[in-house]
Amino acid sequence: MADNLFHHICEAAPDGIVVVGSDGRIVMVNACAEQQFGYSRDELLGAPVEQLVPDGVRQQHSRHRTQYLSHPAARAMGSGLQLRGQRRDGSEFPVEISLSPFEADGERLIVSIVRDVTERRRLEEEREQLRMVADTERERQRIAMDLHDGIIQSIYAAALQLEAAVEDVREAPDAAVAGIDRTIDQLNDTIRDIRSYILDLRPARYGGDLVVSLEEMLAEFRANSLIETSVDIVPYLPVLTESQESAIFHVAQEALNNARKHSRASRVSLSLQSVDGLIRLVIRDNGAGFDPTAEVPRDHRGLRNMLERTGAAAGAFRVETDSGAGTKVTLELPIEPGEEG
Ligand SMILES: Nc1ncnc2c1ncn2[C@@H]1O[C@H](COP(=O)(O)OP(=O)(O)O)[C@@H](O)[C@H]1O
Ligand SMILES: [Mg+2]
Repeated sequence: MADNLFHHICEAAPDGIVVVGSDGRIVMVNACAEQQFGYSRDELLGAPVEQLVPDGVRQQHSRHRTQYLSHPAARAMGSGLQLRGQRRDGSEFPVEISLSPFEADGERLIVSIVRDVTERRRLEEEREQLRMVADTERERQRIAMDLHDGIIQSIYAAALQLEAAVEDVREAPDAAVAGIDRTIDQLNDTIRDIRSYILDLRPARYGGDLVVSLEEMLAEFRANSLIETSVDIVPYLPVLTESQESAIFHVAQEALNNARKHSRASRVSLSLQSVDGLIRLVIRDNGAGFDPTAEVPRDHRGLRNMLERTGAAAGAFRVETDSGAGTKVTLELPIEPGEEG
């Protein structure tokens, strides 16, 4: 009676249930698993569980399964990884899987509960899209305001000075010349502001050679900030994943932007070294420093972005700074040869 009830509960479960023997063969599935993977029960019973795993990760899966059998415990499978199941027709779908071991008739079995997260992923993506649209809108408003309050105002002030100079030209030519000289200086300042503003706006897309990109970034930084810079990049860069390279590039860019905008430093250095199984990026300035515990407005996202990117690349991120003592930004990423991202 209890067995029968339990059978009905398994059959009615909204998640797939796949029970696997210690030889990796499927010994039980419920109706939902049949539906998720597009096989009939007869086809699944006795089949290797790797059949439900995408072709490219079967070997890895089988290796992990053997490891699991020697240390079985109830846990999520591949936590932090984007797992996928493979249907009979070869198509794939995103899944979350929890595993638990149990013993029946002296055999060790693994129960996996398979949840199809296609819909949830879709909603997450939709939310991300909406967030990006809202961010773009906020950004446009900010640009409009910056142009109006900053740049237009200073050009307007220059025009006023020129008007005054025109009036002075006959009666007080010396004053007129002095006024025009001041205006030229102001316009040059404005040009510098606009340059630096454009640098900030330019989308930081990374593609290609990390070392070349970093060197170009530094050259541009030097030209636009007139701050003294030094670069020290390890001659033989270890093999990095795409997300690691992208994290290094973007953290370097944000940190340099901050040094240029906020630090009032006279010297900035960038170093990229590989040490003790790590690749370490350090950007240091000798400027004003800041209070890292101070609240930062929501739309100032530089430091937050750096932290996020570091997380995406499984690294560590530190900012060491103190008022008057400059700022040191460190990014460390593990180098694991042969490890799949
Ligand atoms: N190198 C630096 N020198 C001085 N202050 C800094 C530096 N980097 C960051 N800051 C401070 O931290 C704040 C937050 O930085 P960030 O998150 O990049 O936003 P934003 O640059 O848009 O202000 C800055 O507004 C600034 O006050
Ligand atoms: Mg910033």
